[in-house]
Amino acid sequence: MNVDRYAVIGNPVAHSKSPLIHTAFAKATAQSLSYERLLAPRDGFAAAVADFAAQGGKGLNVTIPFKLDAFALVREKSERAESAGACNTLAWRGDHWFGDNTDGAGLLRDLTVNLSENIAGRSVLVLGAGGAARGILQPLLGQRPHRVVVANRTHARAVELATRFTPYGAVASIEPRALAGSRFDIVINATSIGLNSQVPRDLWPDGMFASAALAYDLVYANQKTPFMVWAAEQGAAKTADGLGMLIEQAAESFLLWRGVRPETAPVFALLRGG
Ligand code: ATR
Repeated sequence: MNVDRYAVIGNPVAHSKSPLIHTAFAKATAQSLSYERLLAPRDGFAAAVADFAAQGGKGLNVTIPFKLDAFALVREKSERAESAGACNTLAWRGDHWFGDNTDGAGLLRDLTVNLSENIAGRSVLVLGAGGAARGILQPLLGQRPHRVVVANRTHARAVELATRFTPYGAVASIEPRALAGSRFDIVINATSIGLNSQVPRDLWPDGMFASAALAYDLVYANQKTPFMVWAAEQGAAKTADGLGMLIEQAAESFLLWRGVRPETAPVFALLRGG
């Protein structure tokens, strides 16, 4: 029997939790499919994707460093992929790939459903102005926050990003040192500081967290990330890493591919526990 084939493509990809997540979704929704890891050479993304399609592949999750390559490759794409300028999900449409980006929707679901956070009317600070920041601005602005402020080490990139998203809502850039004295309800780490380096304490001023503020790191780990530790020291009432977003963006991809939205809570418990 032929089962529909899906995969996550990246480099590196061995660490990816996507196979575990999608296999759990498939089991819970009684969908018959296979899901594997595809390691593509850094200069061989298009060839690997074409190969996968030729072998009957139905869909791909795209991870580092190929989200821009995926965007460039697809013939048809969703509006949210357009606005992010990157694709994290590809769906085979019989003779071409359709490109989507489910990262922003995944973040929104994690914030609003899992963490019960209101975004409407709140002040949001996004730290970083690279690809990860670009992928979340339109979905955030769609929730009608009081304002979204983008701050980045290289200020010019924050200016460029804020300008690009001005048509979607109240977004502005600010130089990191000019943040002193401002307070935010939600602070999102969209830098690539990640797990192995420390939050640059000389860059981000103290005291940016409003009372009851949430600090959200797009990165996830088995222990608290450096950003979460720093935010808690700074008085953030709640901290969260990006595991919920990872699972929610996967659910959104699964929905696109299979037409069924899987429950995410059991998979969150499985991954957090293991
Ligand atoms: P991604 O796709 O993960 O966003 P990216 O496009 O390379 O990756 O962007 C990385 C982001 O993290 C940038 O905003 C970068 O700041 P610069 O634009 O100044 O490079 C930010 N970043 C990386 N290392 C950082 C550090 N040590 N301190 C502050 N910001 C950092």
